[in-house]
Amino acid sequence: MSTNKKEAANIVIFGGKGDLAWRKLVPAFYNLFINGYLPKKFAIYGVHYEKMGEKDYEKHLLEGINTFSRSGKANKSEWKKFAEHVFYFEGDFTADDTYRRLSENLNKNDKVWKTRGVRMFYYSVAPRFIEPISLLLSKYELAGDITADRIVIEKPFGSDLHTARELNQLLTKHFREKQIYRIDHYLGKETVQNLMTFRFANIVYESIWHHNYIEHVQITVAESIGVGGRGNYYEQAGALKDMIQNHLLQLLCVTAMEPPVSLDEEDIRNKKVDVLKAVRPLTKADIAKNVIRGQYGEGTVNGKKQAAYRNEKNVNPKSGTETFVSLKLFIDNWRWQGVPFYLRTGKCLDKTTSLIVIQFKPVPHNLFDSKIMADSRPNQLIISIQPEMETTLLFHAKEPGVRLQIRPVEMDFTYKESYDTPVPEAYETLLLEVLEGDAAMFMRADQVEEAWKVVTPIMEAWKKETPPRFPNYEPGSWGPRSSEALIKPQGCSWTLLPENEIAKNTIRKK
Ligand code: BG6
Repeated sequence: MSTNKKEAANIVIFGGKGDLAWRKLVPAFYNLFINGYLPKKFAIYGVHYEKMGEKDYEKHLLEGINTFSRSGKANKSEWKKFAEHVFYFEGDFTADDTYRRLSENLNKNDKVWKTRGVRMFYYSVAPRFIEPISLLLSKYELAGDITADRIVIEKPFGSDLHTARELNQLLTKHFREKQIYRIDHYLGKETVQNLMTFRFANIVYESIWHHNYIEHVQITVAESIGVGGRGNYYEQAGALKDMIQNHLLQLLCVTAMEPPVSLDEEDIRNKKVDVLKAVRPLTKADIAKNVIRGQYGEGTVNGKKQAAYRNEKNVNPKSGTETFVSLKLFIDNWRWQGVPFYLRTGKCLDKTTSLIVIQFKPVPHNLFDSKIMADSRPNQLIISIQPEMETTLLFHAKEPGVRLQIRPVEMDFTYKESYDTPVPEAYETLLLEVLEGDAAMFMRADQVEEAWKVVTPIMEAWKKETPPRFPNYEPGSWGPRSSEALIKPQGCSWTLLPENEIAKNTIRKK
């Protein structure tokens, strides 16, 4: 039977009744369906151990779509058509019988469809199930076609370098590397995907994108929410493993990578791995000076009361887990020699915002004294990944008038003003890429391992040190004070979008 990538797909979600499937995966498949991106013939199986009737499952998924889908409540007739393709599949992830029955179902679909469809196996499960699922998929030859069958794995990819290597070995025992899609949803965000276009489709930016012109780079992923009900997981992870090891290092890769030879997945992935390989290993002294950790105490965020991290559900009242990290890294290659990269992430911060800030060097010889140029802030390119989705270039201009007065102004590109088209959710883009077999935006085994290598010295140093006095920052702040001090020697501070800064000084002109 031929494989028709465009025409047919069997999609199996292990953990089909879990939170991720409910909030993200099924709404993403639904939006792909209503926008015509799913193959004509497809079936989605939600595998879960609980007993549940088909109708109840549908009701549950519909509620998820109505609550979380970016396109709002489902349209009745579209939902009905979509629901015909979705099935609840009761089964234990560790039992042979589940895979025997799955195999029968998928083979039957292929027969009816008269084509061997693509198969996507999504592991939306706790890490302990990865091994039995892989073993049984392989035993029952469910993913035996290496060009058409793919598995999708969610983070965490191990809990350190050693376990990540073990996980990679386990997966490659059962599947080819080409079949393994390690998902980091940050790489599916529209603005992150656009970053490569921005850099490599324009000559203006790329020609100044190196140490001759760039003073430093800041990458912030801040959240105003706390850990909520995820205390159990978060206690083991902390901000370093939950965010820095994956999302922030991925953003670093896209910001700092060399231009790839082509858009081929391996060409892109090779360049990203090169960035991580070039990160200067952090010494004990660097970690003591340049890696800041924090934990939120009790307070308020956006007018709402917030419990201290140690009082969150399933959190040890004496927990030493960090909910904030900021750090300074260097990339030892030609392009980035001497340019510090500052990374910062945390929960319960003043606002939810993800930004990449490229701060340029000052002009080599300044003609304008402080009377003419009261605000001599440097040129900055601020890329807001979320929520604003905009790119702002800050530069200096002469104010209209007979006397020479110079002020910073901004040039904006915003998605809101530039496009009418709705922006897809990260999961929509990434799931479609899996169906189409494009792994460029997914992490290869070596990339995951290199990312672990970057954070390993920090994990080891923290294991030996007594943690700082936690809690050490208030909810609604920007983390511990020492995080500001980290960037101060650079003669600057953490940057936000101009709305928050320049507008206050009424300098912003529109
Ligand atoms: C997840 C982390 O990977 O990313 C969460 O586990 C975090 O702790 C989330 O809240 C942030 O993602 P987003 O898309 O909301 O910025």
